[in-house]
Amino acid sequence: MALHLSSACFSAFSGSKVRAVRAVASEQGGVSVKTTDEGKVKLGGSELKVTKLGLGAWSWGDTSYWNNFNWDDRKLKAAKSAFDASIDGGITFFDTAEVYGSRMSFGAISSETLLGRFIKERKERDPDFEVAVATKYAALPWRIGRESVISALKDSLSRLELSCVDLYQLHWPGIWGNEGYIDCLSDSVERGLEKSVGKRLREAYNQLKKRGIPLASNQVNYSLIYRLPEENGVKSTCDELGITLIAYSPLAQGALTGKYTPNNTPTGPRGSIYTPEFMTKLQPLINRIKEIGEGYGKTPTQVVLNWLVAQENVVPIPGARNAEQAQEFAGAVGWTLSNDEVEELRSMASQVKPVVGFPVEKL
Ligand SMILES: NC(=O)c1ccc[n+]([C@@H]2O[C@H](COP(=O)([O-])OP(=O)(O)OC[C@H]3O[C@@H](n4cnc5c(N)ncnc54)[C@H](OP(=O)(O)O)[C@@H]3O)[C@@H](O)[C@H]2O)c1
Repeated sequence: MALHLSSACFSAFSGSKVRAVRAVASEQGGVSVKTTDEGKVKLGGSELKVTKLGLGAWSWGDTSYWNNFNWDDRKLKAAKSAFDASIDGGITFFDTAEVYGSRMSFGAISSETLLGRFIKERKERDPDFEVAVATKYAALPWRIGRESVISALKDSLSRLELSCVDLYQLHWPGIWGNEGYIDCLSDSVERGLEKSVGKRLREAYNQLKKRGIPLASNQVNYSLIYRLPEENGVKSTCDELGITLIAYSPLAQGALTGKYTPNNTPTGPRGSIYTPEFMTKLQPLINRIKEIGEGYGKTPTQVVLNWLVAQENVVPIPGARNAEQAQEFAGAVGWTLSNDEVEELRSMASQVKPVVGFPVEKL
């Protein structure tokens, strides 16, 4: 999934012509996390403020990777409760994509449709609640031409029942057609359909800058046990250009939460990644994460998310399937691991050979 600079999607922020736009020109140099009065962070050089953690909605409605290939009412209720618990816990930034819960997968329901429905239902009883929505354009091989971006975005907006999204991202950049796609993303900002967009890092940054649109974020696989962005220059480039790194799969798809063990591995496709052998190698790290968490009254999930936030300029977007998981995320911020603990965990994690985040990542 992650190509070239290992980026699965980049996102830039909107220009000046759009109603309700909060974007300004990108700033260069230095780490770009700017905490606002409300405890939110600005994405890159944009004016978009999001909570320090977001919530990933890939598993909602999906039957190709999650949910044991089956979506039902019980899972729908759990996803809705995850959405509400997230808002109640102060996490109001949601990440989805047009391909999550794609119709191409039997029995699936679009994650965008579900997120749009949850937002609408919440608005009915809580009209003033805040939400920031990020979605993604899929760079599929049969999509040619500038209008493909605008048309995909309009379809996403229709499923989300929104008039614009806060962040629009290019899914799987680097496969092909980036230059054209980026120009189209700029078009859609100017037409007021989105407040931010995405693409291949330095090139994208420069191409968008020419049109006065700052590249706001770069979404990559990043967790304690998958630190490729630190090794391949992506993290340092984000810091240098003032682009926020959005960390996807920050819990290593559940492997870092402490609930999976060599005798209890995840089901479905995750089972072929987080095997008993891998989980055996991971146990010393998990045990240390647990010990450190106990010192703060925190769970392993909260420790590993806090570790990512401690890297600065990083907004993790863990996925939650139910209210309990979403509630736990809220306790991942508002406290800080010591520098020694951050380095100790990195050093221990470097003893574990990283796994591919999910099977298609290296295609
Ligand atoms: N741009 C891209 O190409 C790309 C790729 C992947 C993901 N993403 C985005 O990143 C988001 C998050 O990534 P992800 O869903 O792959 O992985 P993740 O956030 O690392 O892991 C999420 C999974 O961990 C388990 N979990 C979550 N909270 C837990 C808790 N408190 N206690 C125990 N288990 C917990 C849940 O699965 P179980 O309960 O089943 O264990 C959940 O589905 C996605 O939803 C998506 O928005 C983007």
